[in-house]
Amino acid sequence: MTRMLSRAVLFAGLVLAGGSAVLADPPPMMMPPYIVRPEAPAGDRLKPSGDGKTLFEVHCGYCHLVGGMGTNLLTKQRMMMGETPDKGLLANRTDLTADYVKSVVRMGKGAMPAQTKVDVTEAELEAVSKYLGKAG
Ligand code: HEC
Repeated sequence: MTRMLSRAVLFAGLVLAGGSAVLADPPPMMMPPYIVRPEAPAGDRLKPSGDGKTLFEVHCGYCHLVGGMGTNLLTKQRMMMGETPDKGLLANRTDLTADYVKSVVRMGKGAMPAQTKVDVTEAELEAVSKYLGKAG
């Protein structure tokens, strides 16, 4: 009986030691791009001055950067159309027009909710759609 007890104590000790080793040495955090986005630029959001790439990453990035749910859905769609997986990122597309981007943003599309003028102002959308609208 005492032998069983000492085994139990030893086991508990090992669990505690192992647990504290894990707490003392956490694995490095690898944050995916859709979580680590640039900060929103300071200044008047209603003035047409912003950089489209930054504004896209700030306002659309949590779905449309690597790892985002928009990227995941679009990667599947594009691959089913015979394209390469990198076309799941809107920034890599060359077939989008600025007008198409604007209408998807305001109307929504499938699993993408419509983005209001609070989410993305008209001035911001102008810059974002120019950046993404590589087909004109
Ligand atoms: C909440 C997540 C989310 C946000 C925020 C979001 N999107 Fe999307 N977007 C999606 C999803 C999901 C799809 C795919 C919808 C589908 O086909 O069901 C999509 C699709 C699109 C498409 C259509 C692509 C195609 O092949 O037809 C465009 C263009 C687009 N998004 C632009 C944007 C822009 C620009 C922004 C920022 C202003 C934005 N989205 C913000 C989730 C999002």
